Amino acid sequence: MAVSRHPRILLAASEAWPLIKTGGLGDVVGALPAALRNAGADARLVLPAYPAAMAALAGLEPIAESALYGSTVTLFEGHIGAEHPAGRVPVYLVGSPAFDRPGNPYQDNAGQDWPDNARRFALFCRAAAALALGRLAPNWRADIVHAHDWQTGLLPALLSLETRRPRSVFTIHNLAYQGLVPASDADALSLPPEWWRYQALEFHGQLALIKGGIVYADRVTTVSPRYAREITTPEFGCGLDGLLRHRAAALSGILNGIDSTVWNPSTDPALSAPYDRNHLAGKQANKAALQAEMGLAVDTDALLLGLVGRLVAQKGIDLLLDALPRLLAMPVQVVVLGSGEATYVQALHAAAAAAPSRVAFRTGYDEALAHRIQAGVDALLVPSRFEPCGLTQLYALRYGTVPIVRAVGGLADTVVNATPRALATGRATGIRFQTASAAALLEAVERACALFRADEPWRQLQHAGMAKDHSWAASARAYMALYRALLDGPG
Ligand code: ADP
Ligand code: GLC
Repeated sequence: MAVSRHPRILLAASEAWPLIKTGGLGDVVGALPAALRNAGADARLVLPAYPAAMAALAGLEPIAESALYGSTVTLFEGHIGAEHPAGRVPVYLVGSPAFDRPGNPYQDNAGQDWPDNARRFALFCRAAAALALGRLAPNWRADIVHAHDWQTGLLPALLSLETRRPRSVFTIHNLAYQGLVPASDADALSLPPEWWRYQALEFHGQLALIKGGIVYADRVTTVSPRYAREITTPEFGCGLDGLLRHRAAALSGILNGIDSTVWNPSTDPALSAPYDRNHLAGKQANKAALQAEMGLAVDTDALLLGLVGRLVAQKGIDLLLDALPRLLAMPVQVVVLGSGEATYVQALHAAAAAAPSRVAFRTGYDEALAHRIQAGVDALLVPSRFEPCGLTQLYALRYGTVPIVRAVGGLADTVVNATPRALATGRATGIRFQTASAAALLEAVERACALFRADEPWRQLQHAGMAKDHSWAASARAYMALYRALLDGPG
C-alpha cells in the first residue's frame, strides 16, 4: 500500500474527553488524536452523537445522511476547537435516535446497561466503517482505522469483509468489558452467519463484540506492555487468553500518555494555589483547602490518602473498605471520589459518617474535584485487582502525590517501588504492593507513613515522580511507528 506522508487515521470510540467521559478511555481518546496530529498524521475522531457531545462541539454541520441496515444516520462534522489545549481535531458524530438520550453513554440512571447497547454500537460501527471507506464524508477516507474497546469491536470485523480497505488497529483498554450479546438478541445485528463460531465472534454461546477487534484487526494493542503480557495468561485473560496467545505476533502494549496541559499543577484552574517541582509549598495550601472542603480536620501532620476512580471490583475498593478500621489506627485521613456500584457507595458513605474528621466520600462525577484531590492529597491509593494502564497514578506523579499501587499492569510499568536501593539511587517514585489483600495494602500504607514522617525521603519521591515525563509525545510516536509498519507492510 502506498504510504502517504500524512497518514489518515480514523479513531473510533464510544467516549472522548471533553465531549463525554466515564473513565480513562475518554481521557485517552480525547488526547491521542491531537498528539498524532503533532506527530504528522491527519488524525480524526468519530463518536456517537450523544446530546452532550453535540452540545460541546461548536459549529457542527450535518454533512451526510445514509441508510444503514434499516436505520438512518446523519453524520455531523465539527472540531474540538482551538480553545481546547489539544488543538483543532476534526470530529465526526454519528447521529441517530439510538444515541439521542442524555446521561451515561452505556447505562441508565439506575446503573443498568441500556438494553439496546449492542444494536446502538453495531450501528455506530457500520457508520464508522462507511466513513473510513470514503462512503460517507465526500472528501475523506482513512488509511488506518484505530478502534477502541468492545463498542467498536465490530469495526475491524466489518472492514475485513472489504477488498480495498484501510488497515486496522484495535486497542484493548479493558478486557473485562467484552460486549456480550445473548443469542436471542444477536439476530437483530444482521451480522454474517459465519461469525457465529468460536474462531470468529462466538464466545460460550453468546457473541462477544470485543472479539471482532481481537480476531479481525491487523494489529491488537493494549495500554501497557505488562498488561499485554498479563492478558495472555488465564489469571488476567478473562477467558480470551487462548485467543490472545494465538494473536501474540500481532499484540503489543503501548503505554498511555497524559494530557500534561490539562493536568498541570502550575496552571490548573481548579487548584487553590499553583505549584511545581521547585515550589512545593503550594501543595500544602491545596492540602489544607481540600481538608476544609471535605470537612476533615485541617492537619498538616496527617498523611492524607486519596482515591479517585470507578467504584467497581477492578479497582480494589473492597480492599480499602476491609483495611479501613486498621488504617484509621495510623495517623492518616482518607478522601474518596467515585461513582459506581451501590454496595461500595453505601459502605463508603457509612465509613465517612462514622469518622467524619478522618474519612470523606463524594460520589458522582466531578472533574474539578478530581483535580483538587490530586493536588491536595499526600498519597493516592490505587489498589486495583488488575489495571490495563491506569491514569490516576500518572496524574498523581505529576502533582507531587505519591502513588501507592498494586504491582499489576500499567501500575507496575509506571511506578518505581521505594525500596532502600531505589531510594538511594533516586529512582523511586511510589510504593508498590503485590498481594490483593487488606493486609498488603495496610503494610504499604505503613511504609508510606514512615517515609512521610522521615520527610526527606518523601520529598525525594515527590521530586522523582514530578520529573517523569508521561506526556503523549512518546506514545504517539509508538502508535505512528505501528501505523507506518502496517502501511509499509504487505497489503
Ligand atoms: P478507568 O479507565 O479504569 O476508569 P483510569 O485510571 O485509566 O481508570 O482513568 C480514570 C479517569 O476517570 C481519570 O481521569 C480519573 O480522574 C477519572 N475519574 C474516575 N472517577 C471519577 C469521578 N467520580 N469524578 C471525576 N473523575 C473521575
Ligand atoms: C481502561 C482501564 C485503565 C486505562 C484506561 C485508558 O478503562 O481500566 O487502566 O488506563 O482504560 O486506557
